[in-house]
Amino acid sequence: MTSASATPAPLVYVCITCRAAGEPDQQPRPGELLAAATERAAAGTEVEVRRLRCLANCTRGPSAAMRANGSWTYVFGGLDPTCGEALVAGARLLAGAADGILPWRGRPEPLKGRLIARVPPLDFTETDL
Ligand code: FES
Repeated sequence: MTSASATPAPLVYVCITCRAAGEPDQQPRPGELLAAATERAAAGTEVEVRRLRCLANCTRGPSAAMRANGSWTYVFGGLDPTCGEALVAGARLLAGAADGILPWRGRPEPLKGRLIARVPPLDFTETDL
């Protein structure tokens, strides 16, 4: 589907401003806790974790996104702080996917059923339409 282009590390973006849907505001926010858990899980790996404010998935947060090596970008929602290791494992799985598509087989359980969207890489064109 797409060719890989060289980027140094799989990336996980974690929204630190996400609240739990339908819950009153709390500090630290669940997104902040998710970011911290993901950073801990990524320690000692090649995965880079970047904090950001809002992935425009606020009603279905906490939210995170991942991309690697010119892959598609995957946005997940409905996460919680226990999902940090799954995000890191998923990013590593994505980095190893030659077609830039996150495989279902081997996908960490916490990421199944929580995919919000996948976004193609910049150079992607569907060739079989
Ligand atoms: S505040 Fe997290 S997606 Fe908007």
